[in-house]
Formats: sequence, structure tokens, C-alpha cells
Amino acid sequence: MQTSASVDYGYLRQLVYGLSQNVLDPSRDYLFDTRLTKVLRNQGMTHLEELVSHLKLRKNPVLERTIAEAMTINETSFFRDGRPFELLRTDLLPKLIEARRHARSLRFWSAACSTGQEAYSLAMLLLEHFPLLTGWTIRIEGTDICAEVVARAQAGRYHRIEMNRGLPARSVVRYFDHQGEDWTVKPEVRKMCNFRQANLCQSPLPFNRADDRFDVIFLRNVMLYFAQDTRKTLLAGIHRILAPDGVLFLGSSEQPADPGIWTPVLAGGTCHFRPRQPS
Ligand SMILES: C[S@@+](CC[C@H](N)C(=O)[O-])C[C@H]1O[C@@H](n2cnc3c(N)ncnc32)[C@H](O)[C@@H]1O
Repeated sequence: MQTSASVDYGYLRQLVYGLSQNVLDPSRDYLFDTRLTKVLRNQGMTHLEELVSHLKLRKNPVLERTIAEAMTINETSFFRDGRPFELLRTDLLPKLIEARRHARSLRFWSAACSTGQEAYSLAMLLLEHFPLLTGWTIRIEGTDICAEVVARAQAGRYHRIEMNRGLPARSVVRYFDHQGEDWTVKPEVRKMCNFRQANLCQSPLPFNRADDRFDVIFLRNVMLYFAQDTRKTLLAGIHRILAPDGVLFLGSSEQPADPGIWTPVLAGGTCHFRPRQPS
């Protein structure tokens, strides 16, 4: 792909890193050209060079954030990499439900939720397979740095192409309302999920109350964009807010940066992590 020799891509990479901790490889500088066309248009500019000169004046923090968000990779799908959901259904959730039978409450976090499919997949899994949770307090939190994807998650509206990726036909019929080319999650699914914008690399984490811990955290396919130190700090924070018997799922190619505080568990053809408690 074509890049322009007159554009200071290094400045753009540094700006994105400073705001989202996403490390962009110079071999992918062309992504600035393709992804910032809308930003350029909105600014009434025609060249990336012009945008960089404007940014260097450091007078527009909103524009800086818009650029960092535009450079995020938002790829996701319903029941992505299926096995974690299957393991939750067959093994992990029955045990957690038994352990929480007195509190009657379960809390999930889809950290870096993108357009919301991960959170809604959890909600559908619970509705479909755990009717005994009726009357329990179930909270599924979804957060992402990118305002645009959070708005889409909140709307819970998906195009036919997104619906065709990972959703069983019976779930489409049961949990979505159909309008033209789009499907919208039904209120019973929607009301279980709460979405908001949050940066995982800013301290404190969006959730930090040690007395209100999560039972299951999905932190999938986002750490691969972070530097090792950022991963380590993030996972230390996640460790603090995960229940001692809680479960962490990472993306299939991701590992905890600090293996000392996590126990990997291989089960159901996937790997999840348990927080190791200080002895
Ligand atoms: C590839 S998507 C993964 C979505 C979902 N977790 C999955 O596995 O399907 C990565 C998401 O991470 C978000 N992201 C990147 N940097 C972030 C940060 N510093 N804080 C929060 N979210 C971030 C991006 O906006 C993007 O939506």
C-alpha cells in the first residue's frame, strides 16, 4: 500500500500510542491514509500532511482522541472463537452459579467490547441455558476506548453480514427483531448489558471496587496491540477486580504478561486463567 514520504507517520504513531497505548508498526503506516479520510474530510483538509501540521500545534485534544480511536481495530463477532462460551456453558457457569447461590448475583466484563457482540453473546448464553438465573442480579459490562463502537454496542443493531458470523439461526429468531437489512437485540437481552467508553490503559481501571468483583472477564484480542509493560499493569489491575474463584479469558494468541499471578487452565480445547492468591 502507498504511503507519502512527506507525512510524519512517526508523529501519528506516537500520538496514538500516547492516547490508547496501541503500538502501530511502521509497516502498517498506510492505515493512517485509509482510516483518516473521514477525519480529514470533517476537518476540511485534503492531505494527511496538513492534518499532522495541525496536530503538532497541540491545540485540539478532541481531534487527537478521534484519531487514536479511528486507528483501533474493531474486528469482532458473536460467539467469537466459540470454545470459551461452550466451556462456560458446560462447566464454568454451573460451578459459579452453585458458588453464588446465596448472593444470587453474577457479574461479567467484556473489556474492549468493540460493537458489543461478545457481551450480547454472554447474555444470550445465560438466557438460553440458565433459566434458573431468573430473579438473579446479572450484570454484563462492556467497555471500549472507541466512542463510535460503544454507541453501536448500545444501539445493539447489526447488519445481516454481522449476523451471519457466529450466530445460530435459533438465536437470531429468538433474541433479535428484524428491520430490513438490520437486526436489533430484543430488550430482554439489551437490558442485561451496559456499555460505556473507557480506556483500559488509564489508571484507575473503569471498575476498581474490590468489594464488587467480577466473576468472568473477557479481555480478548486487545492486549496484542499493547507493549509488554502496559499488559503487565493492566493484568495486575484485572487481577484485583476478579473474584478469587473468577475466570479470565484472553484471546487465543494472548498470554498474561505476568504469569506469576495467574494459573492457566486447559479445558474444553481452550485456555482460561484463574487468579493466583498471595500465599
Ligand atoms: C479486535 S477488537 C476485540 C473485540 C472483542 N474483545 C473480541 O475479541 O471480539 C479490539 C478492541 O479493543 C479496543 N481498544 C484498543 N485499545 C484500547 C484501550 N486502550 N482501551 C480500551 N479499549 C481499547 C478497540 O477499540 C477494539 O474495539
